[in-house]
Amino acid sequence: MLLLSCSSKLRLLEGTLRRSLPETLLVHGAVMNINRGNLAGHEVLMDSWPEFKAVLIRPHREVASDDSDFYTNTYAVYYRDLGACRALLGSAINWDQAFCIHGLRDGLYEASRDIAQTKGAKLDVLCYFTYFHPDPSSMPEIRLDPAVKLSSLDVSHVDLLNETWLFGGNEKSRKYLASLIHHFPSACLLDATGRPVSWLASDAFGALMHGYTLPQHRRRGYNRVLSNVMAKRLHSLGYPSYCNVAVDNYPMQRLQEQEGFQRQPSLCHYIQCNAAVDRAPMLTPWAAGDSPA
Ligand SMILES: CC(C)(COP(=O)(O)OP(=O)(O)OC[C@H]1O[C@@H](n2cnc3c(N)ncnc32)[C@H](O)[C@@H]1OP(=O)(O)O)[C@@H](O)C(=O)NCCC(=O)NCCS
Repeated sequence: MLLLSCSSKLRLLEGTLRRSLPETLLVHGAVMNINRGNLAGHEVLMDSWPEFKAVLIRPHREVASDDSDFYTNTYAVYYRDLGACRALLGSAINWDQAFCIHGLRDGLYEASRDIAQTKGAKLDVLCYFTYFHPDPSSMPEIRLDPAVKLSSLDVSHVDLLNETWLFGGNEKSRKYLASLIHHFPSACLLDATGRPVSWLASDAFGALMHGYTLPQHRRRGYNRVLSNVMAKRLHSLGYPSYCNVAVDNYPMQRLQEQEGFQRQPSLCHYIQCNAAVDRAPMLTPWAAGDSPA
């Protein structure tokens, strides 16, 4: 296992991962962010260089300082060889913490589960469809409802996001959402009083995240506008546009398909380790039609 910290090698890795899109979406987005200021405080572990069979993104030790904060303790994995991936999972992850691994390849959950058994840790898994837009510049121009104004999220909106996010509502989720708003592109629609009625953020892995419209404002095309705006914005910054949608979130799936996003053949897995379960606010499967992404 090696830690890739040389900036020219990280740029080379970004180019290599880009050539294997969309299956490398998660790690590619993380490496892009590392190469542009590394605001999330991530680092890259690999089995070997320059040829490699597995890449793992993890938070720096100083970032993952809270054992129960799996909003922050997030990893992303891409592999070409499951054996190399297993070795990285076993050695590069802090299994004493609560954490979440994001990965797009089949076999990742089974490999993680096998290691978890040897470590005495318990895993849960959530499955998502990954939607990727091959060319956001071809998306149609949007017409904005004059009742709302296009803006970006700012830290004054964090409580609203935290209250409405199904996995939010606690101090750790608030801190995580504040850091997303602070560090990564986002968009929202404000009503006449300046209050956001619909929003869409992006994260350290370059994914579109946290799409939400207040219930009384739904089915007016608001999140669709934001999906269009954000996909074009990320595209103009050189990022591929993609998002992960829960397998039973049909409204969001329909929205993505109408905007020209293509569902990828492999499921995206969010694998949660509950090592610090007694101390952490764990993610649980959602209810009542809302979704966590
Ligand atoms: C999913 C969500 C963000 C959609 O927001 P919205 O502003 O109502 O979406 P839009 O009005 O832009 O909808 C655009 C398209 O999405 C689809 N859609 C939206 N809501 C839908 C619903 N309840 N049932 C079926 N399709 C729906 C439709 O295709 C719609 O186009 P149409 O109205 O022409 O049929 C909103 O329902 C929400 O906040 N849900 C809870 C949180 C959530 O699930 N977030 C997504 C996480 S990945």
